[in-house]
Amino acid sequence: MLTLKKSEIPSSEITPKQTYMNRRAFMTSAAAAGVAAVAGERMSRVMRPAGVEAAEKLTLVKSPLSTTGVTPTSFEDITHYNNFYEFGVDKGDPARNAGKLQTRPWSVQVEGLVKEKKTFDIDALLKLKPLEERVYRHRCVEAWSMVIPWAGYSLSEFINACEPLPSAKFVQFISLADRKTEILPFEAGISWPYQEGLRMDEAMHPLTLLTFGLYGEVLPNQDGAPVRVVVPWKYGFKSAKSIVKVKFVKSQPSTTWNDMSPQEYGFYSNVNPNVDHPRWSQKRERVIGAPIFRQLQPTLMFNGYADQVASLYTGMDLKKNF
Ligand code: MTE
Repeated sequence: MLTLKKSEIPSSEITPKQTYMNRRAFMTSAAAAGVAAVAGERMSRVMRPAGVEAAEKLTLVKSPLSTTGVTPTSFEDITHYNNFYEFGVDKGDPARNAGKLQTRPWSVQVEGLVKEKKTFDIDALLKLKPLEERVYRHRCVEAWSMVIPWAGYSLSEFINACEPLPSAKFVQFISLADRKTEILPFEAGISWPYQEGLRMDEAMHPLTLLTFGLYGEVLPNQDGAPVRVVVPWKYGFKSAKSIVKVKFVKSQPSTTWNDMSPQEYGFYSNVNPNVDHPRWSQKRERVIGAPIFRQLQPTLMFNGYADQVASLYTGMDLKKNF
């Protein structure tokens, strides 16, 4: 996501050798210690080094909106190949550095075009609606992808509790920016805090998930704890992590990557194999953790969710509104 002009994908996307070696060492020590399973078929993919306690488990209900016929990426890859620039610009940095993030106490402030300003405590938010397991495809603008079993409920449930006014046409998400617990590296080029936004109908779409966990446990810090958004038909950068403020507004809000480089990162950023990024093709994606012969796969329009979301964009030129 760096804006440096290069003819190739930035080096921050390539797993640094040290991270890869650490990962190998981690896998070996975990196996040697006989650490493997946690309950359930999916949980068998969660591996921790000896002595590292399991995170808090979440009670989940099944969801008809979960994507079927896909294989979830391993917990190890989901938690060690991250973009979370508040903790560093390399893929392994968030796992190394996000331990300091304090996720309690935590609250989300709601302001802008709402009936009245509100503040939601994270524990109240967790109980607002039953948490569902939603397996979603996850496609980064850098042309790699994963499949992640998230835990959360539709963002629309939260938005209804916020009571926005009819004049609210967009919603903006603002992440934590805290120098005491985060690095906020200068080289990321980001003017902190990280900000993202959606049009109101996108935010209200049932697939858009307010997310508290993955693999049946609370979110690891590096994946955006304690609460983030997930929009499965858009490039990953639209899904803001560690949210502290939600603002309802009349016009298209400021968003981090679009402000920084509008010719590269559109406001909509719907996954679209027919619109290349100026520096690379979006036709195919590298599947993180897949066997070598299945590592490159074609990218699907709207990341495979076209049947559910294409109608949101009827009449829009998706080449202009990329
Ligand atoms: N949110 C914040 N606050 N900071 C970030 O750097 N990176 C974005 C998005 N949300 C980012 C963020 C990008 S570029 C992607 S691809 C996804 O988070 C990555 O989510 P993951 O690390 O959980 O896969």
